[in-house]
Amino acid sequence: MTLPQKPIVNLGIFVADAAFRAPRMPRMGETILGNGFHLGPGGKGSNQAVASAMAGGRSHLITRLGDDDFAAMARDIWARAGVQPEVTVDGESFTGAAMIFLEAETGNNAIIVTPGAASRITPADVEARRALIESAAIFITQLEQPIPAAQRGLEIARAAGVTTILNPAPAAPLPDAMLALCDYITPNESEAEALTGLPVTTIDEAKTAAAALLAKGVGAVVITLGGQGALYHDRNQTLHCPALSAGKVIDTTGAGDAFNGGFAVALSEGMPIARALRFATATAGISVTRQGTAGAMPTRAEIEAML
Ligand code: RIB
Repeated sequence: MTLPQKPIVNLGIFVADAAFRAPRMPRMGETILGNGFHLGPGGKGSNQAVASAMAGGRSHLITRLGDDDFAAMARDIWARAGVQPEVTVDGESFTGAAMIFLEAETGNNAIIVTPGAASRITPADVEARRALIESAAIFITQLEQPIPAAQRGLEIARAAGVTTILNPAPAAPLPDAMLALCDYITPNESEAEALTGLPVTTIDEAKTAAAALLAKGVGAVVITLGGQGALYHDRNQTLHCPALSAGKVIDTTGAGDAFNGGFAVALSEGMPIARALRFATATAGISVTRQGTAGAMPTRAEIEAML
């Protein structure tokens, strides 16, 4: 008999991504011509929830939306991907948006995100989903919504023995008490630098920064390193998982979200850590060959084919 799959519960934001492709960023006061534009679903929490659903997870997203056209965009991508929404509709605010600059030559990005209604997510919103979080295999959150809400989610999950993942993006100072609630923390290079004050440009430097995070009480650290793959470090082992290429890089936006969404699915299925890292790396590797963020997440079949 197959046991029913436990959910992956994500707390995070949805926004509409407005992505502009151009040779370079404009300087202040300057207008430049771009050569591409894409409007689509984004927000780290929503992207990760979509990635998890597409990769075969039973994915729920706790969030807040306005009552507007961008909220309809959110519900559309969740319905298509199979994400179960746990939404508070906030008619006094608006569904947020992100301005994404895409460097034409490299596909690299720079982002301004305004979370709108999701900036009003409260610990009470999270408390209202206590039973769902307690029933989960994985609780995962980021730092685009208010930190007290993320901390409450981590506390509920930890008390119930649910595996916790914090993707500390965008970087923000965090109390050690919050870090100690994390079974896994998944910063990229710049977020690891911000959390530790240490440089993270090489794999050896990533290991040193990961050790500093372990000393703050985190269970295990996964530093995503773009083209250098990912570095895993816990109290017993260190693993380096090289990046997997699935073709020409078109758009790196959301690669970290693909990684986190895939990683959550792999952990929820009990994969050994080395395989979980490869599963997550393949999810990210495929996502960067496509335009957009949530809309670029691969199916389980595509991930399995790559592996
Ligand atoms: O991680 C990428 C995401 O960050 C984008 O979708 C954008 O909305 C910002 O939240």
